[in-house]
Amino acid sequence: MTVAAAPARFTGRTALLTAAASGIGAATARRLAAEGASVLVTDVDGEGAHRVADELRAEGRQARDLPLDVTSPTEWAAAVAEAESWTGRLDVLHLNAGRNLPGAAHELDDAAWHDQLRLSLDSVFYGVRAAVPLLRTARGAVVITSSVHAAVGFKGFPAYAAAKGGIDALVRQLAVEYGGQIRFNAVLPGAVVTALWAGASEEYKAQTAARAPVGRLGAPEDIAAAVAFLASGDASFITGQNLLVDGGRSISSQE
Ligand SMILES: NC(=O)c1ccc[n+]([C@@H]2O[C@H](COP(=O)([O-])OP(=O)(O)OC[C@H]3O[C@@H](n4cnc5c(N)ncnc54)[C@H](O)[C@@H]3O)[C@@H](O)[C@H]2O)c1
Repeated sequence: MTVAAAPARFTGRTALLTAAASGIGAATARRLAAEGASVLVTDVDGEGAHRVADELRAEGRQARDLPLDVTSPTEWAAAVAEAESWTGRLDVLHLNAGRNLPGAAHELDDAAWHDQLRLSLDSVFYGVRAAVPLLRTARGAVVITSSVHAAVGFKGFPAYAAAKGGIDALVRQLAVEYGGQIRFNAVLPGAVVTALWAGASEEYKAQTAARAPVGRLGAPEDIAAAVAFLASGDASFITGQNLLVDGGRSISSQE
């Protein structure tokens, strides 16, 4: 999807995005690139990341791609080194990897619990640890993709809620720790139609849309717009926040 003309808030800036081969990450790569950023598109699916970067290059944007499994500290070091060797800087880090592994607490085995936390929470720590030196120099911003599950309980997703809930506290901690140097915020998407929703029936989608006061499901571009805002100078007085981007789902009593 081509992004409409947008203010060039990221000209001369470099952004590294994770899990950006599809869905919210790809939409954010397109948005930041359209606003002038040099984007380093990464994903564990290296071919998918390559496709997104290729599409951006074909539109005349500045883009590179790299395979990055966010659960690997070694790969994190290589990704940050790639950003540094490419443009010499890192201004924006979008930590977006995640997947909701279902299972009520009494059904969940140790491996599933740890897989969920490793992918959605440990990875945030690895990414921040690797990128802090460059982000400090650039006075950069980090935006983490959390979930409405951090704010509201949904049956069957305790590990996902715990991982995303950990992000809620971590952004405040990091914002205090690196205040004045790096801003940290999270977006909490509601129901957003991406590959995560591939198995959902039309009936379930319609029910879910009806539960949100805005009356529709989200698009990846809805989340990308919020990430771009929080990463930009427009949000220079905002740090340590968890922003719900859920069409109002979490403030509605509708079942
Ligand atoms: N779609 C929704 O309804 C929704 C709602 C709330 C939160 N989220 C969150 O949004 C984020 C993005 O999800 P999406 O809906 O765009 O999903 P998506 O399935 O479209 O994209 C997920 C991407 O993550 C990549 N990935 C998986 N494991 C990885 C790893 N170890 N390292 C690097 N990349 C990896 C996949 O290859 C894929 O490209 C996730 O953190 C998810 O929890 C999504």
